[in-house]
Amino acid sequence: MVDTDEFIPEAVAEIQEEIGDSKAIIALSGGVDSSVAAALAYEAIGDNLVPIYVDTGLMRKGETEQIRETFDYMHSLDIVEAQDRFLDALEGVTDPEEKREIIGEQFIREFEREAKAVDAEYLVQGTIYPDRIESEGGIKSHHNVGGLPEVMDFEGIVEPVRDLYKDEVREVARAMGLEEVVSERMPFPGPGLAVRVIGEITEEKLEVARESNHIIEEELEEYDPWQALAAVIGKATGVKGDNRVHGWVVSVRSVESRDGMTARAQNIDWETLQRIQSRITGTNDNVARVVYDVTHKPPATIEYE
Ligand code: XMP
Repeated sequence: MVDTDEFIPEAVAEIQEEIGDSKAIIALSGGVDSSVAAALAYEAIGDNLVPIYVDTGLMRKGETEQIRETFDYMHSLDIVEAQDRFLDALEGVTDPEEKREIIGEQFIREFEREAKAVDAEYLVQGTIYPDRIESEGGIKSHHNVGGLPEVMDFEGIVEPVRDLYKDEVREVARAMGLEEVVSERMPFPGPGLAVRVIGEITEEKLEVARESNHIIEEELEEYDPWQALAAVIGKATGVKGDNRVHGWVVSVRSVESRDGMTARAQNIDWETLQRIQSRITGTNDNVARVVYDVTHKPPATIEYE
């Protein structure tokens, strides 16, 4: 629990002190962490904060439109079309940690370029406590912590929610009056669909992942999962019409958790699972099989990579 009456003014004062009269950019992702970091920083430095959303091509369906609506109140929202740069940098890369490093580095390069264009010296990020713990503990390099390049062209990185857990960030979001679509939004990882596509990232696999995640979010909303997702995990044989196909295998995962550090796979009823299966295979001709992941964390992680 966080005492929001105390936390909010303290965080705002700290940001003011750190950034002073300089300019900063905030990297928005659409998620609750970066949205809260943005709201705090906006309160602290107003229009000296330039919100930036990098469209990596790895985002959820409709994400860019959602961001546009949510951050309408901050003028100067800068949407960077970086899909080609991210996909080119990731071409042929199969190792999960290498993917994260490439994504982390590419994000920073995009931020640096945008920061230079608007004369911003600081970068505000929505890093939260578990991101740091998992990166420092060597579990995985969260792109916004361990995935950062060693040399960065910023005067400083400001992380106003770095000591909070996700449920505390949500409390702050509610206290600051952020919309419910933001405060209650399911977590989505910074590297986006890249960690929901096993092996090399291709446009085809991304499209399957994007459509399948959209279906999952709709179908599993009533279960109120901490996080629900779909991942493209490989290929298998199937039949479509009279033909044998070698199609994608989509794994569906839905978990309960408090902080993302441990999680329990949810018990989803058969009818819902069958409806998900039929929507995913119906929407994507190239999907041969849909499976449900029953593994808790540990031993699995929530994401696939
Ligand atoms: P795992 O897969 O480690 O995920 O069980 C725990 C929580 O963290 C999210 N996650 C990330 N968030 N950058 C983020 O901002 C990342 O690199 C990253 N990797 C995992 C994941 O979605 C889950 O909520």
